[in-house]
Amino acid sequence: MRVLAVVGQKGGIGKSTTAMNLAACMSRSSSVAVIDVDPQASTTKWAERAGEDLPFDFTSETDISMLSMMRQLDYDVVIVDTPGSLADQDVLSALLDQTDYAIAPLSPSFMEIEPVQRTLQDFVIPRGIPYRVLMNKVDLRDGKGDLESFEELLDTGSFFDGQVGIPRFRNYIRQAKVMKMMPLQGTVITDYTDTRNSRAAISDYTSVALELMNLWARERKTA
Ligand SMILES: Nc1ncnc2c1ncn2[C@@H]1O[C@H](COP(=O)(O)OP(=O)(O)OP(=O)(O)O)[C@@H](O)[C@H]1O
Ligand SMILES: [Mg+2]
Repeated sequence: MRVLAVVGQKGGIGKSTTAMNLAACMSRSSSVAVIDVDPQASTTKWAERAGEDLPFDFTSETDISMLSMMRQLDYDVVIVDTPGSLADQDVLSALLDQTDYAIAPLSPSFMEIEPVQRTLQDFVIPRGIPYRVLMNKVDLRDGKGDLESFEELLDTGSFFDGQVGIPRFRNYIRQAKVMKMMPLQGTVITDYTDTRNSRAAISDYTSVALELMNLWARERKTA
């Protein structure tokens, strides 16, 4: 069993969207639960709208003593959606003490690197939790140039004084309109058939889920 936390103390970078859609893709081959530890409970409302249709189990939990029992749950993967506000550090700390892997969504904009980097530096790296940044809301309408510059920045760490690069997923999630509707409609990406509007999102989340499973499989082999 693995606990995967989706982190980043910046609102609106795509933590909830990532947690729900990765869970949907991973539930094709694994037993998955999503836990919402965000007191704002936006993912909980999303899950309520989905009702019985979610392809994974869902629960919300902000009680720190309950979070410490998370590892006893009987799932292959538990994905935890975390708060975007700095006010909820106790919950985040309690959760990360139980976490095996962290994903930090990041849209490729210089403004967003700093808060995400801070979360990694303050909460994830000191605990020795393996992590990767996931580029989200990638806009390719003007080509791949901006994305590639951003990737290079992450890989070389040239943005940060004397720092090495930040590990990232090779695959990324493009900006897609279909994503905006999901929380309201109570849907996740696996509910959609392949149409012009949904194709990119289906392919992106499937690729990231596969990349993650491969990373974990490789880790197991070298362990
Ligand atoms: N790849 C994407 N394409 C288009 N819209 C997206 C994408 N990812 C996220 N969004 C939209 O961005 C908004 C913020 O996303 P989300 O709620 O997942 O962020 P969050 O990090 O969980 O925010 P908070 O910190 O407030 O919990 C939502 O309206 C969501 O639909
Ligand atoms: Mg959220």
